[in-house]
Amino acid sequence: MERRSLVAGNWKMNGLAASVGFVEDVADLLREAPCDLLICPPATLIARIAGRGLPIGGQDCHAAEAGAHTGDISAEMLRDAGAEAVILGHSERRTDHGETDAQVCAKVEAAWRAGLAVILCVGETEAERDTGIAKEVVGRQLAASLPGGARSDRLTVAYEPVWAIGTGRTPSLGDIGEMHGFIRDQLDRQVGADEAARIRILYGGSVKPANAGEIFALEDVDGGLVGGASLKAGDFSAIARVAG
Ligand code: PGA
Repeated sequence: MERRSLVAGNWKMNGLAASVGFVEDVADLLREAPCDLLICPPATLIARIAGRGLPIGGQDCHAAEAGAHTGDISAEMLRDAGAEAVILGHSERRTDHGETDAQVCAKVEAAWRAGLAVILCVGETEAERDTGIAKEVVGRQLAASLPGGARSDRLTVAYEPVWAIGTGRTPSLGDIGEMHGFIRDQLDRQVGADEAARIRILYGGSVKPANAGEIFALEDVDGGLVGGASLKAGDFSAIARVAG
């Protein structure tokens, strides 16, 4: 099954008005990207960046459509600001804000209701990998945070081992390939073989120009979710170029 790769940049809590030109820089560097691209800036920049040549996503949303939730942003608001997608269940949300699988699941439903595509993040901690339960943890996250009704046009899964995020460390290629194969098998059981074969599974965690090529070449890896390296137009473009 041919799946078009996706390279998504997660800016996290980085970026001020001065970062807006980044999008034109990337669009210039990547006249004909061999893959789909997505930029997920902080919510404050979505409206400024949308419409400048690259698809835009949010980094989180609330499960409710509107209401008394000070400081939160709904999926409808992201969409209204110009976003087409949203990252949900990122480990920094799970850790910093105590997000549970059930909450992530409700957010995915809210995003779909609003017409946003979702990048759903799963991944084990270092202790979980060391004790040999990485697949069990990822399988449990996927089972509990993915609602019914998943389709490849509105769901991408990102495997992001927590210990690889922002650390410069990555799992071995064998371990990445094995986990992606495991996720594909579990999707097969959860959403059926046809959709499971079409859903993209991204790798995330210290992706950079030097390692992107070998990671993206793995069979069930369909691109990457890129944090730190997505903040530099040259690095992000170099990563996207090898995601054919
Ligand atoms: P990193 O972050 O590329 O800086 O490791 C990835 C992510 O958190 O999505």
